[in-house]
Amino acid sequence: MTKRALITGITGQDGSYLAELLLAKGYEVHGIIRRASTFNTSRIDHLYVDPHDPNAKLFLHYGDLSDGGRLVTLLSRIDPDEVYNLAAQSHVRVSFDEPEYTADVTGSGTIRLLEAVHLAGVKARFYQASSSELYGATPPPQSEKTPFYPRSPYAAAKLYSYWITKNYREAYDMFAVNGILFNHESPRRGETFVTRKITRAVARIKAGVQKDLYLGNLEAIRDWGYAAEYVEGMWRMLQADTPEDYVLATGVGYTIKDFLEASFGHVGLDWQEYVKFDERYLRPTEVDALIGDSSKAQSELGWTPTVDGVALAKIMVDADIEALECEGRPWIDKVKLPSWSTEEVAG
Ligand code: NAP
Ligand code: GDD
Repeated sequence: MTKRALITGITGQDGSYLAELLLAKGYEVHGIIRRASTFNTSRIDHLYVDPHDPNAKLFLHYGDLSDGGRLVTLLSRIDPDEVYNLAAQSHVRVSFDEPEYTADVTGSGTIRLLEAVHLAGVKARFYQASSSELYGATPPPQSEKTPFYPRSPYAAAKLYSYWITKNYREAYDMFAVNGILFNHESPRRGETFVTRKITRAVARIKAGVQKDLYLGNLEAIRDWGYAAEYVEGMWRMLQADTPEDYVLATGVGYTIKDFLEASFGHVGLDWQEYVKFDERYLRPTEVDALIGDSSKAQSELGWTPTVDGVALAKIMVDADIEALECEGRPWIDKVKLPSWSTEEVAG
């Protein structure tokens, strides 16, 4: 029997890798996308097959985590075996600017989806995209047993989602799990997260179309892994015999300065000549250090990360150089590329 999966957040970084993985495993994949005035499917366009084609396995549906009625309708119609809740307002800095919206989507959105599974009476296994941001002020190393101390509206909303997922597991005997994932990156990472902001800037500075890079706190420590490996861990959590929560992390922490060093160094540049400080990128409350202990996932799920932060920096710089060459190169000499970045608009 072909398994059916429903992914919220399918147009995001993780959603695109997870859709790829599940299609490769023979799943029929359904994704919820938001209606926007411009196309927002660039990360999954390469997977799309006209739904009239008998070989089509990927189906997209309009919906939103703020619309519970629509979620009930979709759950009843699709009747999935597995539900992956990846949708969220996922930017920590932005959550301080839009705290109520973040609570609604990143927090209440989860209960709407869980309740839709419950009301529709489907027997789906449920994955909740929990986050290492839950640990916040609690020092590393952080594991499944470490107490939470959220430090942003985003983290507080994710804390609600973590507990409500656990509650539905206990109250309704649902196979519902939390993947507590530490930062994971890739060439598909959103442009306003610090790694991609840096690697994209390196490519543009090297090509001569950007002069400076404005950043905030360079001392924070993050445990950066590779997104393509982390979605494999999500899938493994839903194939386990019992529903449990798992940390996914590399166990290696680097500062933002380390990531700058690796990224600029990869193309022979000294980051200190280009990086400038802008207080707009500071957070009212910062998370100083996240370094995860994923030994439970490694021993029980057989999940092993192989790419750490420095290796990622090189992969992402190479990809951004290639992307710029494909898109920008023919234009560079003739047309001045815009000097603004999305980070100046949000983030
Ligand atoms: P991302 O790239 O920001 O993608 C977020 C996805 O959520 C996008 O598809 C977005 O749609 C969708 N979305 C946002 N608001 C929505 C709404 N109201 N209704 C329906 N969909 C909505 O995030 P990611 O990096 O792939 O992360 C996936 C999940 O894991 C998120 O929940 C994130 O908080 C969590 N997480 C991420 C990390 C990490 O390091 N990447 C670590 C721990 C946890 P549009 O494309 O239309 O914007
Ligand atoms: N975005 C950004 N922009 N971050 C900056 C900048 C900047 O200009 N300058 C310094 N930083 C620092 C932030 O203060 C933070 O300490 C660190 O870089 C990482 O920031 P982000 O890349 O925005 O990620 P995050 O750690 O806040 O959140 C990401 O990881 C979480 C898991 O730990 C997101 O993907 C969350 O959705 C996820 O839950």
